[in-house]
Amino acid sequence: MIQTTFKLSSLLLAALTAATTVTAQTIFIETKNVAIVLQADQAKHLKIIHAGKSLADNSEYIISGEGNKLHAEGASSNTLAYTVAGINNNFMEPAIAVVHTDGNNSLDLVYQSHKTAATPDGATVTTVSLKDAVYPFYVNLFYKAWTNEDVIEQWATIRHTEKGNVQLNKYASANLYFFGKDYYLTSYNGSWAKEMQPELTHLKQGMHTIQSRLGTRENLHTTQNFMLAFDRPATETDGAVMLGQLAWNGNYAIQFETDVYKNMHLVAGINSYQSEYYLKPNTTFETPKLIYTISFEGTGKGSRNLQNWLRNYTLADGKGSRLTLLNNWEATYFNFDQNKLVGLFKGAKDLGVDMFLLDDGWFANKYPRNDDKAGLGDWEANKTKLPDGVPYLVKEAGKAGIKFGIWIEPEMVNPKSELYEKHIDWVLREPQRPELYFRNQLVLDLTNPQVQEHVFKVVDNLMTQNPELAFLKWDCNAPIFNGHSMYLEKNRTPQSHLYVEYTKGLEKVLKRIRTKYPKLPMMLCSGGGGRSDYGLLQYFTEFWLSDNTDPLERVFMQWNYSYYYPAITMCNHVTDWSNKSLKYRTDVASMGKLGFDIRANELKAEDMQFARQAIKNYDGYKNIVWHGDMYRLASPYENDLASLVFVSPDKSNAVMFNYLTNWRYVGDPGLRPIKLQGLDAGKKYRITEINLYGNQKSTIDNNKTYSGDYLMKIGFNPNVNLSRTSVVLQIESL
Ligand code: DGJ
Repeated sequence: MIQTTFKLSSLLLAALTAATTVTAQTIFIETKNVAIVLQADQAKHLKIIHAGKSLADNSEYIISGEGNKLHAEGASSNTLAYTVAGINNNFMEPAIAVVHTDGNNSLDLVYQSHKTAATPDGATVTTVSLKDAVYPFYVNLFYKAWTNEDVIEQWATIRHTEKGNVQLNKYASANLYFFGKDYYLTSYNGSWAKEMQPELTHLKQGMHTIQSRLGTRENLHTTQNFMLAFDRPATETDGAVMLGQLAWNGNYAIQFETDVYKNMHLVAGINSYQSEYYLKPNTTFETPKLIYTISFEGTGKGSRNLQNWLRNYTLADGKGSRLTLLNNWEATYFNFDQNKLVGLFKGAKDLGVDMFLLDDGWFANKYPRNDDKAGLGDWEANKTKLPDGVPYLVKEAGKAGIKFGIWIEPEMVNPKSELYEKHIDWVLREPQRPELYFRNQLVLDLTNPQVQEHVFKVVDNLMTQNPELAFLKWDCNAPIFNGHSMYLEKNRTPQSHLYVEYTKGLEKVLKRIRTKYPKLPMMLCSGGGGRSDYGLLQYFTEFWLSDNTDPLERVFMQWNYSYYYPAITMCNHVTDWSNKSLKYRTDVASMGKLGFDIRANELKAEDMQFARQAIKNYDGYKNIVWHGDMYRLASPYENDLASLVFVSPDKSNAVMFNYLTNWRYVGDPGLRPIKLQGLDAGKKYRITEINLYGNQKSTIDNNKTYSGDYLMKIGFNPNVNLSRTSVVLQIESL
């Protein structure tokens, strides 16, 4: 017994001992400020020896690794770069767990080679090849590094040449170790109309998981966005913090495992819940990407890193323009016909928006879509409401001087529909169990190529029949309940492939749509804000944050989304959801991609005049909001107001938004100046209040000028108070 323990300890020590110098097997993944350094030890196990700040001298990463290594027997961390299940010197959560064709359920991945190459889009990709010591089983780890943005994309591919299928029980995208003193995790919970509610957790020893099992609208209850602050909670401008997301529109799990020595092990990937994957020989399984940045200057810098990365390299048309719009969802719900719509076009034109967006309710004849109980899946225009079809509406919108866009929800079906009657085998449902509905609907089986074709055709038919269609809103209201695929069953594929193949099927369709219609603006919507992952945002130009358009609640919600998404992606509509003033509602919605969902033709004259002027103002500064740098200045969680500024890349112009967030008697938040950020200290600026309502006189004197230095060190008082509940300021350099 004693002898066995001794042998095991020596083995552990040998395996844990990394080289003490830079070797040919030391791998540096570096951005301007961040470095992940890997090194194969003497047993060729690939370890993480550094994850954090980049250093000037490469050889010192080794010293950093030395300082953090755990040699003690019983230490739970062994810092593998891709933690395996089944070999006995690892007690940590695996990134990968498999069962080989002979029933053996262990993996021992050893380093083979690595290479780093520049990519055409300006990043570098490091590929590390690992192989099992015994089995012909291969894993490649990928690290794509964006120098200026300090963003790293991390994923893996898995392949084997065994005789038969290997069962993958877990197949994470990324595995990381951090050697900090303490960890504070911000994750986001939610529900319909309550999306993106932050939760701060001080992580103690043990496992903390954020995950989804919803299948489709995957980030409704918990988003795959997270913030991990090292040592202490980060502030906007101070502290080391990682901000990230798993770019996967499907079930995900992000696990934070803290050991007794305060080492943090992070494993992120597809949720293994009900998802064993049987991998055929010589086929490659590619995981989704974990995308993250680490900022050493607080959350503000981290947000700008992710926002820039998304806009510059991932988001569809990230550097382009967007359309302001009038939507009819809350204005009419299902109750409209073509005359009513044409009447609304005039309102859109009078307001001065670019486009009219027709929402749900325009289709289906045998079971007309007059409420959410019927018609979904039958994508022909309803003959009673729209006797002249969609082409007539596109034409009439054109005559009114606006563009026309339309709502679809092509992944779904109501049981009361012709589609369900004709193709019940296309529907995800347990044939032996009662059907379970979410909003009276079911999800179509996107693992089936015929269903993929159907979904593609919903878009393609609309576009072919209406080449001038300017915009699509793509909704998705139901999660997968009782998911069972007839297609997988017929093809003798295990049902445990469903969640993965659903998402891959959806991506395939979207890729096809984007290839044929590369410029079409598309909004990602999911029964409110249930979908906003970076994986899907490569096909979409923008997304719907929530059906909750109460502007006060939106100040908080948009604040939370802004940690991960640039304003150009955020669809904010002015609606009649709340009784806050039209000005407050419009000012809040202007801090993103502005739209309206009101009966514009019924607005009183003063409101119409205000809205028109606000849209004109917005047209003047929208490029700064969409493409500039965002700084959160005063948090509504810590103050009675929220304040943010967007600064143009050359720092010559900015727009500052300020909102009262506490309506009871407050100790006058307007009394204190708010320090600006991101300006040029050496420039002089003039500050002018815009979006004034009616005869309102501004309290801001725009004859005065201020240096950037003054504005950033002393600050500026926007005079927010109970009679000035929202204040928009235009800041121009002289
Ligand atoms: C849910 C969306 O979030 C709403 O904006 C609207 O499009 C409805 N679906 C339509 O059914």
